[in-house]
Amino acid sequence: MSLKLNYTISLLLFLNLGSSLFSTTAIGVNWGTSASHPLPPDKAVELLKANGITKIKLFDADASVLEALSGYNADVTLGIPNSMLHGLNSSFKAAQNWVHDNVTRFVSQGAGRLRIRYIAVGDEPFLQSYGNQFHPFVVGAATNIQAALFRAKLANEVRVVVPCSFDAFQSKSGLPSGGHFRSDINKTMIQLLGFLDKHHSPFFVTISPFLKYYQKENTSLDFALFRETAHPHNDSHKIYKNAFDLSYDTVVSALSAARFPQIDIVIGQIGWPTDGFANATSSIAEEFMKGLIGHLNSKSGSPLRPHNPPIETYILSLLDENQRSIATGNFERHWGIFTFDGQAKYHVDFGRGSKKMVDAENVEYLSTRWCVVNNNKDLSNVTAKASEACLLADCSALSPGGSCFNISYPGNISYAFNSYYQQQGQRFDSCDFGGLGLITTVNPSMENCRFSVEISTSISVSRRILYLFQWLIPLVVTILFCL
Ligand SMILES: *[C@@H]1O[C@H](CO)[C@@H](O)[C@H](O)[C@H]1NC(C)=O
Ligand SMILES: *[C@@H]1O[C@H](CO)[C@@H](O)[C@H](O)[C@H]1NC(C)=O
Ligand SMILES: *[C@@H]1O[C@H](CO)[C@@H](O)[C@H](O)[C@H]1NC(C)=O
Ligand SMILES: *[C@@H]1O[C@H](CO)[C@@H](O)[C@H](O)[C@H]1NC(C)=O
Ligand SMILES: *[C@@H]1O[C@H](CO)[C@@H](O)[C@H](O)[C@H]1NC(C)=O
Ligand SMILES: *[C@@H]1O[C@H](CO)[C@@H](O)[C@H](O)[C@H]1NC(C)=O
Ligand SMILES: *[C@@H]1O[C@H](CO)[C@@H](O)[C@H](O)[C@H]1NC(C)=O
Ligand SMILES: *[C@@H]1O[C@H](CO)[C@@H](O)[C@H](O)[C@H]1NC(C)=O
Ligand SMILES: *[C@@H]1O[C@H](CO)[C@@H](O)[C@H](O)[C@H]1NC(C)=O
Repeated sequence: MSLKLNYTISLLLFLNLGSSLFSTTAIGVNWGTSASHPLPPDKAVELLKANGITKIKLFDADASVLEALSGYNADVTLGIPNSMLHGLNSSFKAAQNWVHDNVTRFVSQGAGRLRIRYIAVGDEPFLQSYGNQFHPFVVGAATNIQAALFRAKLANEVRVVVPCSFDAFQSKSGLPSGGHFRSDINKTMIQLLGFLDKHHSPFFVTISPFLKYYQKENTSLDFALFRETAHPHNDSHKIYKNAFDLSYDTVVSALSAARFPQIDIVIGQIGWPTDGFANATSSIAEEFMKGLIGHLNSKSGSPLRPHNPPIETYILSLLDENQRSIATGNFERHWGIFTFDGQAKYHVDFGRGSKKMVDAENVEYLSTRWCVVNNNKDLSNVTAKASEACLLADCSALSPGGSCFNISYPGNISYAFNSYYQQQGQRFDSCDFGGLGLITTVNPSMENCRFSVEISTSISVSRRILYLFQWLIPLVVTILFCL
């Protein structure tokens, strides 16, 4: 008996020691679904499980995704799209409905329940390009959601947060000590921080060494990638050896200037894309992730917050998404650590050390068919057709520095045609292009340039029909019974 107790105590001690000595930083992923043919949720959840990813941030509250996640022992962040902020600010009832439909229903299912940790109100609503379209509603919407959670007796387990874009901050000197909030949102940010502080919620922020490098903000590739060879940036007596710490401390300074110097920080989005721009490649992305995770695991923190790194970090992104906006750049559709169909592009240590990444298995595709240009036709007007296709399809890999940039004409036209054809679910007439398209069963991919075949989404369609019947049949039976 006492032996057993002793054993238990030493085991507990060991576990405790183990977690403090070897604990790695909490690293999760953003899982977006802005794709024409998203990987089916059950396949994506298998991918998360197999790779040991237990923190998942979503951009909405899609029921099929939440059902697939139910029963998986992971911490989930639900998202509320910006378009809903106006309604949620003006109506507490709308907030109650949102919480009822999208939270209560899933957390109260016993063993199959979902562990919802955060509700992210808005998706970077303070982006400068949005002007004042969304930010006036943020604090009101967050307050209503918080009150609705309280009513539903969920306020102790679910925290309300607001993901903040990096352009919410400015620094004239380009150095952390000059960090402050953009003046047009300064008042809103102070209200938001007061709200977060009151409810013990952390501050979610995007940090993007890639964008600093892309936008040439005095950021060398070495500095962005945590390389030892990078020239340090001096901020009076503080020395910055990488772009991550520099950005992080700019946030810390802005929070201090707003008089919330202690608030916990979560990195809501950080990543490195792999296509659509020179130096957006898998090997560089791998180097960035290794540098980032090594830095976070070292627990060294930053010059302004030594030994106090972000409490959690969410990588952008789980999968490539061919319908993300490319307003910022063609790389936007290539943030995935996995391809759109769940194949690992490179290695990331999610706590499994150097174990090989696991790919998605048994993914079902459309038929092995591609659409290419018919070389036997008069191609004098073909470029216009391809440009038209690219307005809807994903041609980002054809841009300078992209994986298909140097496939020559008319190979690039075929790439555009195929991308459109796949996105249209291989509909026969979507390979017409005024008679210039041709359907082939020979894979036209070359070297690094992959001509994809899209994922079959018919499974999820049949499931949706099944789901409908689950409701319909009892309804019909009830009606018949009542008659
Ligand atoms: C947000 O909702 C409140 C309460 O209905 C309202 O008084 C306020 O004007 C709304 N805010 C904006 C910016 O419309
Ligand atoms: C629940 O979330 C989904 C997806 O974000 C949204 O479409 C729906 O409107 C939400 N429910 C309510 C009652 O707002
Ligand atoms: C932001 O608001 C704070 C507090 O009201 C003020 O001290 C600060 O000067 C403002 N900063 C800017 C950039 O407007
Ligand atoms: C750019 O960074 C370097 C450090 O690598 C620094 O010496 C220089 O002053 C910075 N330039 C500007 C314009 O901020
Ligand atoms: C930055 O600080 C370090 C250490 O104090 C010093 O050696 C270096 O010369 C400084 N660099 C610049 C550009 O001021
Ligand atoms: C890519 O990185 C290399 C090495 O730093 C650099 O020489 C090159 O200019 C970069 N290309 C672009 C487009 O930034
Ligand atoms: C190309 O477009 C022009 C202008 O629309 C048209 O007149 C011409 O007939 C087209 N050529 C072919 C081969 O389709
Ligand atoms: C594209 O360019 C790369 C680098 O310059 C080269 O290695 C590759 O062979 C080229 N591919 C084609 C199809 O020309
Ligand atoms: C394909 O390449 C040709 C010749 O370089 C160019 O004129 C055309 O714009 C390209 N089309 C696409 C869709 O990239």
